[in-house]
Amino acid sequence: MTQPKLGHVGRLVKGSAPSSMSGATSEIVVGLDIGTTKVAAVVGEVDADGVTILGVGNVPCRGLRRGIVSNIDWTTRAIAEALDAAQTMAGVEIRTVYAGVSGSHIRCAFSDGIAAISNGEVSIEDVKRVLEGARAIPIEADRQIVHVLPREFTVDNQDGIRDPIGMSGVRLGARVNLVTAAIAPVQNLVRCAEKCGLTVADIVLEPFASAEAVLSDDEKEIGVAVIDIGGGTTDLLLYVDGGIGHVSVIPVGGNNVTQDISAGLRTPLAEAERLKRNVGCALGRMVADDEEIEVPGVGGHPSRTASRRLLSDIIEPRIEEIFAVIRTRIEDTGLLEQLSAGVVLTGGAVLMEGMTEFAEEILGMPVRMGTPVGVKGITGLVAGPQFATGVGLVLYGANALHQARGHGGTKKAEVIELPPRSEKKSRQSGRFFDWFKAAF
Ligand SMILES: Nc1ncnc2c1ncn2[C@@H]1O[C@H](COP(=O)(O)OP(=O)(O)OP(=O)(O)O)[C@@H](O)[C@H]1O
Ligand SMILES: [Mg+2]
Repeated sequence: MTQPKLGHVGRLVKGSAPSSMSGATSEIVVGLDIGTTKVAAVVGEVDADGVTILGVGNVPCRGLRRGIVSNIDWTTRAIAEALDAAQTMAGVEIRTVYAGVSGSHIRCAFSDGIAAISNGEVSIEDVKRVLEGARAIPIEADRQIVHVLPREFTVDNQDGIRDPIGMSGVRLGARVNLVTAAIAPVQNLVRCAEKCGLTVADIVLEPFASAEAVLSDDEKEIGVAVIDIGGGTTDLLLYVDGGIGHVSVIPVGGNNVTQDISAGLRTPLAEAERLKRNVGCALGRMVADDEEIEVPGVGGHPSRTASRRLLSDIIEPRIEEIFAVIRTRIEDTGLLEQLSAGVVLTGGAVLMEGMTEFAEEILGMPVRMGTPVGVKGITGLVAGPQFATGVGLVLYGANALHQARGHGGTKKAEVIELPPRSEKKSRQSGRFFDWFKAAF
């Protein structure tokens, strides 16, 4: 790894450690999105004004299959390259990261906890205790809890409480969504990061991070689905009543589309990928019949001309399959009617023409593409839906640091994601800035 360039004094800081810049306190937080097709390292500087993106490293990675590490060396090399690029651009040395996890081993389940309220008024310690209780359910030996996400609290006999802190009572209850993951894939991710000399501050569910980067509080409040279609996985996360109602991962993504094109048009995978990105369209009927494309042959066979409609006809069934599976999953949760804000699409595969239109058709809801919001700095480099996870990991890390700071500075940030209060109308970083104000 090359030595990072130094910016002004105070810029060469340990990741997640406070630095002093122009008298103001700031911290560096790094998100590491280890995806099936790329590793994106996003460096953010967190201060009282919010998060400023200082650097981004984005390199191709072939070390994962369907969101799970399948080759440690390839993955480690891609992480090292992405880090190198990000720290050179940002002028910081990265030692600590928030890493994303995905894959079809991810599951979620509801659990309940109950605790006595210590001094007649609910404190953050009471909330921590009730959440500890809620996570004490039997899980398989090869699985671990990744997140404990509160859905609602009860104080004595009053239910439906979003934020119980400060309320009077004797008994605090919590209904949480427990997100669990298989231990081995998580350990392999951590191992790859550690081989690059990194400490993983926390493992974060990728669609949860993506949602943090693209959703407004309003959308979370009235109900929204985030669908992240990457290279190897399609992640689904539902926000209902301000809390997470469901999470699941399907092991299908944009790479399957590329493979379909390669097989259907008998062209090399790299050419299929190029065709998909440059002239692919998810909905056949959006393509004029007379549009023609050039298709390179395999193994020395000459290029030939094909209709763009044919390419679309190959792409369409795969995309239809993905959205149909997603629709079934949403229906199975029983939360379909509660998604008034519709669907937000993230992940690189949604860049293809016709994706939002097709999603609207199959899912029967309004659909928009989600790109990261709520950050400053070199935002042009993280402007696409494929950077939602990386930016979201930085936002998550920043939030975790400030909660840790605001509540006694626990070393490993334990994020207690309280569902946002309904009266907050600001963008997703609204509550986040409240934390800032409180912390500084
Ligand atoms: N312009 C484009 N049109 C169509 N597809 C695109 C475009 N740009 C990128 N893609 C596809 O997006 C996918 C990569 O998206 P992304 O970077 O979000 O995935 P990832 O994070 O590496 O993978 P995963 O999240 O599944 O582990 C690839 O399949 C790629 O072909
Ligand atoms: Mg991804």
